[in-house]
Amino acid sequence: MNSKTVLHAVIGDPIAHSKSPLMMNRAFLELGLNSAYAAFHVSPGQLPAAIAGVRAFGLRGLNVTIPHKEAVLPLLDELDESARMIGAVNTIVNENGVLRGYNTDGIGYVRSLEEETGIELSGKTVAVIGAGGAARAIVYALAKRGVAQIWLVNRTLARAEELTQHFSQICSIGVLSLEQLPAHGHALDLLVNTTSVGMSPDVEQCPLQDLNWIDENIIISDLIYNPRVTKLMRLAAERGAKTHGGLGMLVYQGACAFEYWTGMPAPVQVMWQAVTE
Ligand code: ATR
Repeated sequence: MNSKTVLHAVIGDPIAHSKSPLMMNRAFLELGLNSAYAAFHVSPGQLPAAIAGVRAFGLRGLNVTIPHKEAVLPLLDELDESARMIGAVNTIVNENGVLRGYNTDGIGYVRSLEEETGIELSGKTVAVIGAGGAARAIVYALAKRGVAQIWLVNRTLARAEELTQHFSQICSIGVLSLEQLPAHGHALDLLVNTTSVGMSPDVEQCPLQDLNWIDENIIISDLIYNPRVTKLMRLAAERGAKTHGGLGMLVYQGACAFEYWTGMPAPVQVMWQAVTE
């Protein structure tokens, strides 16, 4: 680092577990860029000061993670359509003092899914389990990719209904109960779990009880990356389904952010390596 180093960071609470500094610094190194990336533990009360700090220090880019993704919106100057529609920001680009917010979670997910499974999303029918922030990002990106139909499946139906109303302007979207899902299974090309059910340490939990409808014609995708293979993925693979885990989403949301900051294609392979090491 020298006096010209272009600086980036991630803020969150907690933040010590973040793999982003390793992944991003490896990417900067790979492309020979005089750039660096740090992690800052920012409590909710300090968020406005932290964003003021981005302006004062002239950081080029910021990643924002839990619990700040929604609270940061009013502190920015401009929002990309992704950030507006999802209602959350995970990436900020500082363009000569103008802070613009993006959300790369959904598009990162789609890039990972396409890259790793070869799926062509246009015209497909998809079920999404969950109706929280992660589901919003996934639904937005799937809709932009031109899927034909999205079914939202959630423990709390009212929350799914609310999300359906929000996204009905950009895609054909409806709600299914967990009990209704098996009867629609044959029509699904992809099922995505966006809930934390099955995440370490509760690795024996599964968001679906009835898996008997799953066959080799569906891709089962889980946003969880710890463990790398969830119980849902393991049981689905046993029934012949192709499976897709959440680590790629982590890599590609970072790759998209990297591309917004640098204007260069992200070195995805070394970013994968940094994360899996
Ligand atoms: P995130 O931003 O990570 O998506 P969130 O907004 O808290 O987190 O949303 C969590 C989602 O996982 C919700 O859809 C939640 O279902 P409810 O709307 O019914 O609360 C779902 N979820 C979390 N734990 C769950 C569990 N044990 N069983 C079923 N669904 C669960």
